[in-house]
Amino acid sequence: MKQVIMITGAGKGIGKAIALDFARAAGKQSEFDPVLILASRTLSDLESVAAECQSYGAAADIFQVDIADTGQIDQLVNTTLERHGTIDCLVNNAGVGRFKPLTELTEEDFDYTMSINLKGTFFLTQKVFAVMEEKRSGHIFFITSIAAETAFKSSSIYCMSKFGQKGLVEVLRLYAKTCNVRITNVMPGAVYTPMWGEVPDAMKSVMMKPEDISAPVVNAYLMPQRTSVEELVFRPVCGDINE
Ligand SMILES: NC(=O)c1ccc[n+]([C@@H]2O[C@H](COP(=O)([O-])OP(=O)(O)OC[C@H]3O[C@@H](n4cnc5c(N)ncnc54)[C@H](OP(=O)(O)O)[C@@H]3O)[C@@H](O)[C@H]2O)c1
Repeated sequence: MKQVIMITGAGKGIGKAIALDFARAAGKQSEFDPVLILASRTLSDLESVAAECQSYGAAADIFQVDIADTGQIDQLVNTTLERHGTIDCLVNNAGVGRFKPLTELTEEDFDYTMSINLKGTFFLTQKVFAVMEEKRSGHIFFITSIAAETAFKSSSIYCMSKFGQKGLVEVLRLYAKTCNVRITNVMPGAVYTPMWGEVPDAMKSVMMKPEDISAPVVNAYLMPQRTSVEELVFRPVCGDINE
């Protein structure tokens, strides 16, 4: 069956791995026919992820979008609906982090992080949830973080934004359960992605990889509709990395 799956931040890291795993699932299960809506700000990333998804037999459509801009969110959703008719799954993955001691963080760090992690996530979710509520089906994933419920010294603004995302998850569940929409909060610990920049080899060797997160996300989506995987929590086996 055709499934329209929108993934924000699909150009790199965890979002890219989720897109590729959805595409691989299409190759393995003939009844699963995803149209992957890949969104981020960097067109070249999206083009290369789309080509790889298509090589596995999945359809992919790319949107160069900054989710901090509500006008661009409207365009993303409206154009997706015009081209593909509906949205069955939203993966709220796009996110940023500025990691510094509390006293060094600036107003610009605050506004940048909140405009993407909170404002962008909220308004995209609001618009897509309205579509799902109307048709009484759908699945929304939030790639929050263990920083949505655990404090890290260098992550004050990031933690605020992720605790805030978890607040949205909890409120949205109250609406979603009345209209057959599944909500999954995905809370990873340290995953080695471009978000981290350069990291020492010793640290890299203990961090998780994007595919460790993406495979269970795709499995959660492919569960029978009667079952909602409400939370997925992932940590490096050695525990949290306090950077
Ligand atoms: N890596 C970790 O250890 C870790 C752990 C827990 C949770 N997370 C969360 O997982 C999510 C993905 O993180 P990641 O590690 O994969 O990061 P990443 O490698 O930096 O990738 C982030 C993706 O989001 C996109 N993006 C960022 N800002 C955007 C915006 N304003 N509009 C549209 N797209 C935007 C980026 O592309 P452009 O820059 O081209 O737009 C990129 O494709 C984030 O929400 C992060 O907080 C990460």
